[in-house]
Amino acid sequence: MTSIPARRITAPDVAARKGGETPLVMVTAYDAPSARTVDAAGADLILVGDSVAMVVLGFDDTLQVTTDDMAHHVGAVARTKPRALVVADLPWLSYHVSDAETVHNAARLVRAGAGAVKLEGGRKRIDSVRAILDAEIPVMGHIGLTPQSIHALGGFKVQGKELDAAKSLADDACALAEAGVFAIVLECVPDAVARVITESVTVPTIGIGAGRHCDGQVLVWHDLLGFAGPDHRAPKFVRAYASLEAAATESIEQFCADVRAGTYPASAETYHMTDRMADALGLYGGVAEPELAQ
Ligand code: KIV
Repeated sequence: MTSIPARRITAPDVAARKGGETPLVMVTAYDAPSARTVDAAGADLILVGDSVAMVVLGFDDTLQVTTDDMAHHVGAVARTKPRALVVADLPWLSYHVSDAETVHNAARLVRAGAGAVKLEGGRKRIDSVRAILDAEIPVMGHIGLTPQSIHALGGFKVQGKELDAAKSLADDACALAEAGVFAIVLECVPDAVARVITESVTVPTIGIGAGRHCDGQVLVWHDLLGFAGPDHRAPKFVRAYASLEAAATESIEQFCADVRAGTYPASAETYHMTDRMADALGLYGGVAEPELAQ
């Protein structure tokens, strides 16, 4: 198993890994069991992503979750006391209205247990980034395919394929880094774009569908473990390391079969009282069960 640092990882620790030999690893988690698996595996960061809306709550997009929903999931993750840095997604509309509301919502996620927050967007969101940083909360940026903008983007599509769009993404990344974010997620951009951005900014880039030139990589827990639903068409960047959904279904099928065959529970899985007590109760003493039930 990967060696895990002795103390909790902080946002400055992550920022200090820029250009390091060992890429950063971030995995999403949304509850205590998923957080425990990610932390025990030695990931550096746990992202409580607003992808919870899609992979856990069954919505078609990430726009359906609120700050209250996110705080609920952040709390479950944080209560496992992971060594990994817990980063919480600010959901759609929690940082688009006013700086005061933005800071209030970011603080709510920190009080729920996050060590940093992530928001989507580049130059457009610099005021929000500054406001949150002013409240001493570390911020992670997220550009490229920003799922909270799917209606504006026209769907889940690779971004930055044209020269102007690529340059605009690079400008966004530089603006975020200058504003003081400690890392930037690059989602679904060509690897050449991710490479230019990674070489242009002073903070680590963490890629998802952005090729191998980033300072780190992130995947969604359910994609990584093959738990994304039978109809899910995984994007090409997803590597599933297990088929947990199939394994879980098989296990539950076996439980159904055992119950129906009367082989569960076995004696060893049953609480017993002494024979004397059972006799006194009438179970083994000749009192018929139907009488006992009356
Ligand atoms: O919500 C999420 O899971 C994310 C990752 C895809 C980076 O933002």
